[in-house]
Parts: sequence; C-alpha cells; structure tokens
Amino acid sequence: MAKVKVVDLVLRDAHQSLIATRMTMDEMRPAFPLLDAVGYHALEVWGGATFDSCLRFLDEDPWERLRIIRREIPNTKLQMLFRGQNMLGYRHYADDVVEYFVQKTVANGIDIMRIFDALNDPRNLETAIRAAKKEGAHIQACISYTLSPVHSNEYFADFTKTLEDMGADSICVKDMAGLLKPYPTYELVKAIKERVKIPVELHSHTTSGLAEMSLLKGIEAGAEIVDTVISPLAGGTSHMATESMVAALQDTPYDTGLDLKKLNEVRAYFALLREKYLNNGQLNPKVLGVDANTLLYQVPGGMLSNLIKQLADAGKSDKLEAVLAEVPRVREDAGYPPLVTPTSQIVGTQAVMNVITDERYKQVTKEFKELMRGGYGKTPAPVNAELQKKLLGGEQPISCRPADLLKPELEEIGKECEKYAEQPEDVLSYAQFPQVATKFFENRRAKKLGIDAEHLDRANAVMPL
Ligand code: CO
Repeated sequence: MAKVKVVDLVLRDAHQSLIATRMTMDEMRPAFPLLDAVGYHALEVWGGATFDSCLRFLDEDPWERLRIIRREIPNTKLQMLFRGQNMLGYRHYADDVVEYFVQKTVANGIDIMRIFDALNDPRNLETAIRAAKKEGAHIQACISYTLSPVHSNEYFADFTKTLEDMGADSICVKDMAGLLKPYPTYELVKAIKERVKIPVELHSHTTSGLAEMSLLKGIEAGAEIVDTVISPLAGGTSHMATESMVAALQDTPYDTGLDLKKLNEVRAYFALLREKYLNNGQLNPKVLGVDANTLLYQVPGGMLSNLIKQLADAGKSDKLEAVLAEVPRVREDAGYPPLVTPTSQIVGTQAVMNVITDERYKQVTKEFKELMRGGYGKTPAPVNAELQKKLLGGEQPISCRPADLLKPELEEIGKECEKYAEQPEDVLSYAQFPQVATKFFENRRAKKLGIDAEHLDRANAVMPL
C-alpha cells in the first residue's frame, strides 16, 4: 500500500463538464501559483474540448494558453486529454499530422498525454503512443469504460495488457458517464492489476452519485492515482471533491500527503468563480445534483440531454421512453461501442431516427453507416452482419487501421493556411477546426493591426511637438 496520488481536473474536465468549457485564461490565471503550491501528482489543463472552446468561443490561442500555464505552473506535471487518431477534432487524421501535434504539444509544456479511443481500438492509439514516446512524454493510455455483454473485466484487463505492451506508462480507467459502481470497480481494478505492472488511475464522473464510493473501492483494490476537482467545481457532472478525498485518506496507508490548508487557498479562489458562474447563469444548478436517470438508462448525462433536445426539435417529446429503449438495440447492432464522443452522438441520433420514422434504419446517418463500415475502427463486438450488408450495398467493409487509408496531409493543410500562420502551431489549429481557426486568425490579425494603427496615431500626434 502506498500513498495515493491526486490529479486535479479543475482547469480542464471540471469546467468542460459544468460550464461547457468556458473558463477563460483570465479567470484561471490567478489560481496558478496556488495550484502549483499544492504538490499534486499532476494538473489536467489542456486538450479535450478546451482547444475547440478557446478558438471558437473565447478568442484565445490554445497554444498560448498552454505556454502561459507551463510558465506559471513550473513545479507540477501538466496533463492533457487526447483522442488518439482524432487528436482534438472530430475525424481521423493522417499519421503525419498526429505526430506533429504530439511533438508541438510536448514542446509547449505537456508532460502527461492521456490518450483514448471511443471504441478501445488499439490501432487508433498506435501513432499517438509512438509519437509521445519519441518526445519523451509520459503515456497514459485509457480504457473507455462501458457496460455491455462483451465488456467484462477480462476484456478490459486484456486491453490494458495490450496498452502496456504498446508502451503505455500508466492506465486510466475512464468512466465518462459515471457508470462505475463501488464493488465492480474493486473487481475491475483487481483484474487490471493482475495483468499489468504500470500504475492505474481512476477517472469517474459524479453524475450518478457513485464516484466517491467507487474511487475508494478502487483505491482499496490497488489504484495508485485518482482524479478529483477542487470542491467549488466538484460534484454533479464533474468529479469528486479533492479536499474530501484528501480528508478521507488522511492517517491511513493511502494518505495523499496533501495539505488541506493549501487546498483551502485554492478553494477560496475557485469559490469566487463558482459564485460568478452561478450569478451569470453559466453554471446551471441542475448539473450539480445526482442524475438518477444515468443509473437507469446507462447513457451519459450529455447524451440524454441531446436526445431530449432532438426529440423536442422534431416535435416528438413524447417518444423519449421509446428512444431510450431503442438505444441499447442500436448499440447492439453497432457492436456495443462505448458511448463517448463521437459514438454517443452517432448511436443516439440513429436511435432517434429509428423511432421517429417508425421504421428501424429506414433513414441512416452518414456517420452511422461509417461506424458500421469499420471507418471508426474495430467495434468491441462484430456489428449486425445483415444490417451491415444492407447499409453498405456493394461496398466493402474496412478491416485495416482506418488511418492507413489516409495519405499524409500536413503539407497540404500547411499550404491552405499559410497566409494566416504566425507560429508553426497554427497549422495544427487549422487542421482540426478549419473554419473556426480561420475566423480566429482573421480576428487576431485585425486586433494586431488595430493596435498598430493606434500606436501609429499616437506617434503621429506627438511628433509635431
Ligand atoms: Co471526464
């Protein structure tokens, strides 16, 4: 038994889960020295939806954000969340883009790359792991946790062994929907610890009110690292409070060694932000409670609200029960994918279509067809063969690594955005979000010119004197 290590997610997952990833650099910056003084194992600060949000909503350069964080949090390891071959975007990228992204990410200050794939297809993690190894980063490979007839402890333990053999330095059990229950967590962690030597970290959202108990049982089973969030932005769709975990383990063999007084300084700062978010409506108190629907339907909270919205838009709000019954059937046909971006959207939308058209698979989205074709990778179980044949017509399913079908694309993308680029990293922003990045680049230039023009005016004004 050893001390448990703590990773605080306040600068990434907490605000992604509670306020749609809108925490700005100005809001987080005063907390940097306080966070750096705590002595966390690591801080998760980048990746996930933060990159998109910086460019799309906050008019911030995500790379500049990372450099500032690195500069002002010099003593704590920095972690990011990376979606394998998708990077931080919504499609598969060619290997040369993924390699360049990883290189620039580590060069700008990331120590720990947490890498996951929605389908748990190791081939979608291959390039990112190889590139991170080359750059000397700590590779944390994830299992996307889900429940299904094929997702046994043995299945997950086998997968972690594959990840260890591929070069992972640690494993993260990533429970995005809050489905982990205390006793199954104990068994799962035990099964993993029997197969791999590398440390295991637990990531479980408090959506369904189970995470605190599950983390504790996971620690008892041998998990070395836990993900928590400083209390003002903890709970609900976010994570367990850091201070509660630290207090719970004090004076036990698992003692985290963290100081509650230092944490209280961090808490005091984020308590002000919480007030601000509640007052300006960014933080809806509804997301702070326990969502028991998650326990019943086993769909992530975000997916459930999407389904409700899609049905309302179609004027079929009364069909929610039917859609929730349809989701497991669609999931079975698609080979039981874990429900996480992008598969949660794909399966959810298809279930809605099946219900509102009154005929299963009468209409099929492009993405669902692609999932059935193998375009997102290998599904956990084989897809429904009959349905696959019907949807693909004469087309052949994909059985290779999907990225093997992509030609190198970095040079081409570089040419496309050449006129905007002010730093080498800009090509990576553009690769992932071409329209959003272009708008950001244009604004950046305008701002610069505006400032220059103003300086020029002032210079001219004083010249006659
Ligand atoms: Co999360």
